[in-house]
Amino acid sequence: MKTLTALALAATLGVSGTALASADLAAQHKCNTCHAMDKKMMGPTWKDIAAKNKGQKDAEKAVAEAIVKGSKNKYGKVPMPPQPKAQADAAALAKWILSL
Ligand code: HEC
Repeated sequence: MKTLTALALAATLGVSGTALASADLAAQHKCNTCHAMDKKMMGPTWKDIAAKNKGQKDAEKAVAEAIVKGSKNKYGKVPMPPQPKAQADAAALAKWILSL
């Protein structure tokens, strides 16, 4: 019984922690040097990226791929360099961005 309660608790914490964890991931991978929620910096805002990609076919996959491989000519003249170190977290980051 005790194990079950602990498992349920862990699951609850895991789910409610997702949004924050992904914002933390963005900070951890230094995405925030070029991206912010509402203010355009070197890169487009998280919300602009969400708006541009939402509703596209396979948006989550495409966004995750753009994170790892970089992107250019979609938002302006400044390209985004590839972020291979974010590979393991790219899916979580893409999901988070598209949820904004
Ligand atoms: C050196 C600055 C820089 C860093 C660091 C950076 N980006 Fe970007 N990012 C950009 C720029 C500039 C663009 C716009 C590229 C374009 O016009 O296609 C962009 C575009 C994007 C896009 C849109 C791709 C698309 O196809 O719509 C996503 C998603 C994204 N960045 C996520 C991230 C994440 C997640 C990180 C951290 C792992 C990150 N970026 C780190 C500059 C950066």
